[in-house]
Amino acid sequence: MSNPLASKALNLQHLLAISDLNRPNIEFLLDLGEKYLDLSVQKGPAIKILAGKTLINLFFENSTRTEKSFELAGRRLGADVISMAIARSSVAKGETLLDTAATLNAMNPDLLVIRHGASGAPALLAQKVSCPVINAGDGTHEHPTQALLDALTLRNRLGQLDGLRVAICGDILHSRVARSNVQLLNILGCEVRLVGPTTLLPADADRWGVEVFHDMQSGLKGCDVIMMLRLQLERMAGSFVPSKREYFHFYGLDRTKLDYAKPDALVMHPGPMNRGVEISSDIADDPDVSLITRQVETGVAMRMAILHGLADANPGGVS
Ligand code: NCD
Repeated sequence: MSNPLASKALNLQHLLAISDLNRPNIEFLLDLGEKYLDLSVQKGPAIKILAGKTLINLFFENSTRTEKSFELAGRRLGADVISMAIARSSVAKGETLLDTAATLNAMNPDLLVIRHGASGAPALLAQKVSCPVINAGDGTHEHPTQALLDALTLRNRLGQLDGLRVAICGDILHSRVARSNVQLLNILGCEVRLVGPTTLLPADADRWGVEVFHDMQSGLKGCDVIMMLRLQLERMAGSFVPSKREYFHFYGLDRTKLDYAKPDALVMHPGPMNRGVEISSDIADDPDVSLITRQVETGVAMRMAILHGLADANPGGVS
């Protein structure tokens, strides 16, 4: 694909957090993602921009969407893609992350994608390798590529994000998706709200540049977009909600609660979904309101743009 946007337009070594990005970098990546959204462009023969380059996917935590979409994105751009199954690698034999990094670096990858249960692991890896590192989710810290794909999904559907009122609802406390989205949506001019029970909201939420609500009726009022989050039970030590049934009653998105938002409000969810816990199937599967499948589709295009942009911006690797 001929890229009319010069590589120098992206000034970025790694994508570890939304704070790595300024507005021009964000616009650059979203514009490039938009081009890749056109399926004929994604699958065309002329876009083997990463031919001869190696992408290593390093997933220390389970993933369906993110890992597969990075794999597909890399392959569509012509890269050699290696996905490390951590359970079968030397990490299971006790190798430290830094030793793994040194081993991987010796293989001279051109791009490294990492998901890890510890917040900050991708940043540590980035100090030890000589290629761009992309954070595919670290602990409860950040998930910047998810936020970018969410922004692209909205921009593609609505034309622009400026002035949108977006409610992010549910288990904010354990959500790296929420942390990245709040920052990105704020930069892009949205009015962001967090809605959830006190037990699932971080203590410092009032310093995130958002409005905080504890009930769906007032939180969803006048919203253009509702982003639902999974109850991240695997990150909860102890009990944060009385029961899933009660949680759905107060915070699960159903028709009644959807009606609190604007009449044409759109619903998003990063997946995996717990149907009947944070969202009803009726809403999740309604093509008129749900962008959930579109988010997955957009994820591949957005990741193609991120891989392409970073590879182009760092032709000789990073120091
Ligand atoms: C999210 C994640 O892993 O942080 N999923 C994803 O990447 N699509 C959200 C979640 O696990 O609930």
